[in-house]
Amino acid sequence: MTDPADLRSTLLAEAHAASSLDALEALRVRALGKQGAVTTLLKTLGHASPEERQRLGPVYHALREELSAAIAGRRTALEDAALESRLTAERIDLSLPAARPQQGRIHPISQVMDELAEIFADLGFTVGTGPEIEDEWHNFTALNIPEHHPARAMHDTFYFPEVQSGERGRMLLRTHTSPVQIRSMMTHEPPLRVIAPGRVYRSDSDATHTPMFHQVEALVIDRDITLGHLKWTVEAFTKAFFEVDDVALRFRPSYFPFTEPSMEVDVACSIENGVLDLTKRGRWLEIMGSGMVHPRVLTACGLDPDEWQGFAFGMGIDRIAMLKYGMTDLRAFFDGDGRWIAHYGFDPLRAPSISGGAGA
Ligand code: DAH
Repeated sequence: MTDPADLRSTLLAEAHAASSLDALEALRVRALGKQGAVTTLLKTLGHASPEERQRLGPVYHALREELSAAIAGRRTALEDAALESRLTAERIDLSLPAARPQQGRIHPISQVMDELAEIFADLGFTVGTGPEIEDEWHNFTALNIPEHHPARAMHDTFYFPEVQSGERGRMLLRTHTSPVQIRSMMTHEPPLRVIAPGRVYRSDSDATHTPMFHQVEALVIDRDITLGHLKWTVEAFTKAFFEVDDVALRFRPSYFPFTEPSMEVDVACSIENGVLDLTKRGRWLEIMGSGMVHPRVLTACGLDPDEWQGFAFGMGIDRIAMLKYGMTDLRAFFDGDGRWIAHYGFDPLRAPSISGGAGA
């Protein structure tokens, strides 16, 4: 039989050295289990003489107590260590900034379209739309641009194949937003105040032209409408859009088939690093085409020019967006580069509103 003193030192050493809870449990079974070494030792007391029992009893019991305590102590130590390593491994560093998900931004074109809708809503205009795939009649003929008129050639039109032509001529991608004038007059009784922002297409591509770009059209039809109304409206719009109290405008005679008289509108300004400054006036910059709606256009839409008059203007949204927000490269508008939109885009939670103003 093993010497109890040897057994004691071996088992205690094993208990202290146990490297896992499993190893410790195996040791407990081996020493203190039903068939365990210490249990077996205790069982021998049953056959021992009273003197021996008196001598060895306390030694064996002490061994069992000591070993149980050593195993329990080692178990606590191993459990503490396991908890400690879990706490370290699963630690959350609250000093780290919370991960910020990629945030969507509003494209400057959408922003400017929203600004236009708000500014013109304030002046009593509604927003109208028309199809981007138009027919010749709406895009040209009804706007007093007859076939073989040089203005048709000037528009670099994308036409659809002849087979798709209908009774209103060939189908095409609209070259301007002016056909929405026609659609508005044909579907709504005057008086009318409408703006129509949207995409337009021309077969033209270089540093300052893209085959798709954006325009906004404005149309007013009412009785006794004069050039004075046109001038006031353009001035009110320009001040609101560029957020200035005062502007100097120049109405320069021009030619558009659908207006008579026709004028191009220039603003006095300076441009530094692509940003327009209307408070410093060193040069004229053209911002739109405008005029009094041509009687033939009214007639084409079934309106009597002796009863109804109107004015219209149209401008490039991309261009006024670039001027207002200082973007110098038109093509970047359509590249879809996340870094560009992160820099030039607008906060989706600060949409323009009548109460909050156009400038976000
Ligand atoms: N549609 C013209 C263009 O694309 C712009 C324009 C000029 C619109 C004069 C108008 C206007 O309504 O009156 O160049």
